[in-house]
Amino acid sequence: MKFINLIVHKFHAKSLEEILLEVKWLLNYTRRYTKAILFYVALGFLSTGMGLIGSLASKYLIDAVTGYDSTNIKLIVALMIGMSLGDIVVGAATSRISTKISMNVKLEIQSEVYDRIMCIDWEAVSAFHSGDLLNRFASDVNIISDSILSWLPSLVTRLLQFLGTLLIILYYDPTMAAITLISAPVTFFMSRFLMSRMRSYNDKMRQLSSEMMSFQEESFQNLQIIKCFDLCSIFGQKLREVQQRYLGFTLDYNLFSIYTSSFLSFVGMGIGLATFGWSVFRLWSGDITYGTMTLFLQLSGSLSAAFSSLISLIPAAISATTSAGRIMAIVELPQETRFAHVNDKGDAEVNEDELELQLCNVDFSYQGRQILKDISVTVKPHTITGIIGPSGVGKTTLLHIILGLLNPGKGEVKLIHSNASEMLVSAAARKYFAYVPQGKSIFSGTIADNLRLVKPDATQEEMIAALKAACAYDFVQVLPEGIDTYIGERGYNFSDGQIQRISIARALLRNAPVLLLDEATSALDFETEQQVLKNIMQYSTSRTCILTSHKQSIIQMCDKVYQINQGKLSELVNDSLLDEVLEEEVAVAL
Ligand SMILES: Nc1ncnc2c1ncn2[C@@H]1O[C@H](COP(=O)(O)OP(=O)(O)OP(=O)(O)O)[C@@H](O)[C@H]1O
Ligand SMILES: [Mg+2]
Repeated sequence: MKFINLIVHKFHAKSLEEILLEVKWLLNYTRRYTKAILFYVALGFLSTGMGLIGSLASKYLIDAVTGYDSTNIKLIVALMIGMSLGDIVVGAATSRISTKISMNVKLEIQSEVYDRIMCIDWEAVSAFHSGDLLNRFASDVNIISDSILSWLPSLVTRLLQFLGTLLIILYYDPTMAAITLISAPVTFFMSRFLMSRMRSYNDKMRQLSSEMMSFQEESFQNLQIIKCFDLCSIFGQKLREVQQRYLGFTLDYNLFSIYTSSFLSFVGMGIGLATFGWSVFRLWSGDITYGTMTLFLQLSGSLSAAFSSLISLIPAAISATTSAGRIMAIVELPQETRFAHVNDKGDAEVNEDELELQLCNVDFSYQGRQILKDISVTVKPHTITGIIGPSGVGKTTLLHIILGLLNPGKGEVKLIHSNASEMLVSAAARKYFAYVPQGKSIFSGTIADNLRLVKPDATQEEMIAALKAACAYDFVQVLPEGIDTYIGERGYNFSDGQIQRISIARALLRNAPVLLLDEATSALDFETEQQVLKNIMQYSTSRTCILTSHKQSIIQMCDKVYQINQGKLSELVNDSLLDEVLEEEVAVAL
């Protein structure tokens, strides 16, 4: 019980249960790479064995030249040279093979974590800053993969080195072995002290590193705003402040490491001097040979190296469990539901274009703040439905619920197939939707790359047809490289209206039965906007379209118009009422 309390105390910054979970998580990975780990253990054995043989060989060499032993000097010299050469060869092979193994493990873990992140519930993962995610994804995964490969082999080989060396000393001089073992209680005390402090240092430093990366990422993304508001020096100052906090903490940690390592070196020095004094005494009293004396000196060096390596495994373990905890905090977030048929009519024939969308008594809140209340609406196939309402009322939120990105607190959102099969919206139902989000949603790459994202096998003709329908082909065809023109990050080198039209073309190319447009034509002039909407309804088959807008021109093209007001959705049935609402919105905007 006392022992358990002690461990609990060691890890005081986190609960033992959490640490055990982290260790279990790490062990799961470790198990997968057993072969690689065994390879490292074998290498460790080999180099430790060669080191010990080298030490013994030097003892016999010195004894031979000082006349205590007439063993074949040539053989010993050959053995010593052989061991040194062997060490170089093993070192080179280790470097090559271990680079391959560690790169493979690192990339494998990274891609696995990446896949998990992609399937996490969108609302849950959105709570993390992308800089923090990036930091965890890059540096924490690196720390984990490095420690999976090195920690256990280091523990085994260092223990072997420690015990092997101790046994040889014990064989030649038990008193000397006892002197070297004085270090054991010191190690125990230090490890206890190290663990409790290091855990909290590690947590805090990773947090600060994420904070720094988030700040850097955000400032590079918003360079334009920073420049336009003349905030360069303010942001420079902010960076320095974050850096100072990071530096302060790093230096604190460094001081802590210096104290502990100096203390350990002091202990090591004391034991070194004691063993040296003891061996000099035994040499003076004629109990041991010069060769044995040399052996002792080498072995005590090897012993203290093994001892420091074992001690250094403690921070390594803490660092690995901290990183495991940070990755677990992401990969163990709830995953998206992928499939939910509420009423499956089996094999009955389905016309995928005849999808009806139904929202039944949907409520939605963000962190306890209710945005949508008891929303019920049916969207018939091949109709245009408009959703209006002042800014911040919940239009985008409603589209995200339809896409299954946000889960309603109450009620359900269903897709009803032509054969009366019903399916709840989820990640699996997203194939029935094409979406043009509010704001820029383009990737860096060529126009064609962006279009092919949603249909990798799209032909040139299909892409041109989609661009034409989105009224984008006119400007694309006059570009020197046409649809192979490069779009920079977040649409750099294109206008907002052009990016909107390319996004609409991408959504059209997807050929999904339901098209969701969130203020998707807000940057277009009146005529282009009208033309785009007409084309959308005629492109391929006429699709079901749900759009949000503030513009009267668009709303008037809708079959049905709904307004969100104080979380409630109500249909605007008469044109004069619609005009009134839109005028009110314009007045509010002004
Ligand atoms: N992740 C979030 N967490 C908490 N609140 C949020 C979150 N996203 C949006 N909100 C809040 O929910 C409300 C609805 O936002 P939403 O983006 O749906 O409005 P909107 O009607 O699309 O507005 P706009 O016309 O300006 O695009 C807003 O008041 C907003 O502050
Ligand atoms: Mg919106």
